[in-house]
Formats: sequence, structure tokens, C-alpha cells
Amino acid sequence: MSSFVSIHDKTFKLYLHRDEIWSKVQELAKEIESDYSGKKPLFIGVLNGAFIFAADLFHAIDIDAEISFIKVASYSGTQSTGEVIDIIGLKEDITDRHLIIVEDIIDTGKTLSELLPQIKSKSPASIKVAAIFSKPSTRTHDVKIDYNGFEIPDKFIVGYGLDYDGLGRNLTHVYALSDD
Ligand code: IMP
Ligand code: MG
Repeated sequence: MSSFVSIHDKTFKLYLHRDEIWSKVQELAKEIESDYSGKKPLFIGVLNGAFIFAADLFHAIDIDAEISFIKVASYSGTQSTGEVIDIIGLKEDITDRHLIIVEDIIDTGKTLSELLPQIKSKSPASIKVAAIFSKPSTRTHDVKIDYNGFEIPDKFIVGYGLDYDGLGRNLTHVYALSDD
């Protein structure tokens, strides 16, 4: 296994081994199982970044549960407030459902802080958030992560679903930008 990978113009160094990630996913899965037994939660994976974590987490869950995926598209609004987000792909009726939003990484928290009110407005029974990575030091929006995988410093990481300019999502392990 190589300790370094090159993606586009940058070099990344091994940061977290797949085995450590898988142990953490199983821990989170156990917590979710005990919190949601009999509630048939609906997992909502946020594409693209969360697709591998969502698949692993869902696979590790041993209670009745459903899964669906959404994509968040941001565009510049016509008002000076700037960006607005659109949720694409939520076909399920989420009224009265117990939702677990599955994210790859919470950085500033902006995406999540815009996504949650839109989902809440559809009257689910409950909403919780699972994220495999979080960078607490770069947070600008206050968001609560209920199932928090790894808290990492302000490093740019790739692998396990996360990309650098489109590439690196398929890396088995997680790598961090070397000169960070
Ligand atoms: P937020 O709105 O700042 O919390 O943005 C979160 C999104 O930014 C994630 O879903 C990722 O798509 C992207 N992101 C943030 N940090 C990283 C990173 O270190 N590697 C790859 N993508 C990242
Ligand atoms: Mg994302």
C-alpha cells in the first residue's frame, strides 16, 4: 500500500486507514440501531461525497431501514443574499418519517444549515445527522452532528467518497494534502 497518491497537481499522504474507518462506521451503526429499533428510519445520503459512507453505514445496520439519496445544487440567487440551494431527488414522502441525513464531511456547516430547514418544512417525525468527517475548526454555521465519525483538523482530505476536483473518490483509504 502506497503512503502517497498524486491527484491532478497535488500530492496527498495517507491519513486514515480503511480499517479504522470501518470500525468507526460499525460503532455509529450500533448507536443508530439502538436509537431506531422499531422506527424504520429513512437514511438520506447526500450525493456525491456520501455515497460510500452511506453504503457502508446502511450495510452495517441490522434493523429495518430504508435509504434514498439526494443531491444539493447551489445556484446564485437573484437577491444579494447570494447562494440558494435546491434539493434534487427527494421523491419519498418524508412526512412523519424518522430521517438520518448522511453526509461525508461537515466543513463550514453551510450546506447542512441550508439543507435542514428545507427538509424540516416537509414535517418529518425527526431528523438526525450522521457525518463520517467533521472539521470543527472551520465551522461558520452552527450545526449539530448526532453521529459524528472523525473530527479532523483543517486538512483537505480525499478518498472514501471525497474528491479533489472530481478525482480520488475511489481511494480505499483517506489521504490528506501533504503541504497542509
Ligand atoms: P460545508 O457546507 O462547508 O460544510 O461543505 C461541506 C462539503 O464541502 C462537503 O460535503 C464536501 O463536498 C466539501 N468538502 C469540505 N471539506 C472537504 C475536504 O477536505 N475534502 C473534500 N471535500 C470537502
Ligand atoms: Mg457533501
